Order: sequence, then structure tokens, then C-alpha cells
Amino acid sequence: MISAERIAGRVAEIAAEIDRDYADAGEVLMLGVLRGAYIFLADLSRALTVPRSIDFIALSSYEKTSSAGGVRLILDARVSLTGKHVLIVEDILDSGQTLAYLLRLFGARRPASIRTCVLVRKPDPGIEVQVDYLGFDIPDEWVVGYGLDYDDKYRALPFIGTLSREALT
Ligand code: IMP
Ligand code: MG
Repeated sequence: MISAERIAGRVAEIAAEIDRDYADAGEVLMLGVLRGAYIFLADLSRALTVPRSIDFIALSSYEKTSSAGGVRLILDARVSLTGKHVLIVEDILDSGQTLAYLLRLFGARRPASIRTCVLVRKPDPGIEVQVDYLGFDIPDEWVVGYGLDYDDKYRALPFIGTLSREALT
């Protein structure tokens, strides 16, 4: 669906936008959502020139492709978010549930600012959620690669692709 070259090009463009927007911020705290965002965060953080620090959080994950169960924080940030310019870095926006939860949770910790950066977005998230930096809008299909998984597989693929019917069963 999206080649490694297109991803790299878009990551560079997003990094340039972030560099511009945070030029006077002092430092950006990039909060990566494990595990799907690890490759995106690695590439994005290296493409930036503004001062940045990195931390990770983790949430309870989907069972395969079903969204049953809701969102639960299982690993919190190590650092305090108070007074920081927080940038949540997420792999994919589907229902919007995850990002809405994180914005509520971390917004309450009195950050200096809080923004979101999402690599891919599926159509019509049920929950309206603020996306400040977006890589790509994609069709409503399960995608893997570049950090994204299906049943914890395919994360290391350099591109983003869809699964065949056989792989989904
Ligand atoms: P949301 O809370 O429904 O927006 O879902 C966000 C989370 O669901 C992401 O962080 C992913 O972990 C997972 N997810 C949703 N769609 C996909 C997909 O197509 N491929 C891999 N993971 C997905
Ligand atoms: Mg995720």
C-alpha cells in the first residue's frame, strides 16, 4: 500500500513541519506508543533537528483485529509531563479510542502543550480526535509493516501492506 520510499519522504516532511512548529519550544518530549510506533518514532526522531527527548508508553492491545476490551495503560511514561511540550507518536488511528484516551490522560498532567502525530489514519474514526501531524490517510483495511502488526507478526517489513485473506484467518 505504501512503499518504504514514500514513508521515508513523508517522515522527512513531517519532521520539517515539527521542526518549524517547535523552533521556539526548547524541547519536544516524543511519547511513543508501544509497540506499533517504535519504527516511526525511531525514524522521526532522527529526522528532527529541534531538541527532543524520547519516552514510551504502552497500552493493552487489540486481540488480532477485533477491538474488544477497550484501552488500558500498562506502561506509563518515566518522566513527568508537567511543563513539557508533549508529542504523542502513534502508528495508526482507527476508532480514535486510543488517542482520545491518551489525550485525556496526559492532558490532565499540565503539559505546556500536547499534540499528536499519527502515521496512518483509517476513514471515519468513531471518536473525533485531534491529529496535528499525519502521514497518510488509508482505506479501511488491516495494515501491517513499519511497526504495525497482525498477531505480532510483520512489524519489521519496510513498507506498509495489507494482508491476503488467507493470512487473516
Ligand atoms: P484505535 O484506538 O481504534 O484508534 O486503534 C489504534 C490501535 O489499534 C493502534 O495503535 C494499533 O495498535 C491498532 N490497530 C488498528 N488498526 C490496525 C491495523 O490496521 N494494523 C495494525 N494495528 C492496528
Ligand atoms: Mg498501537
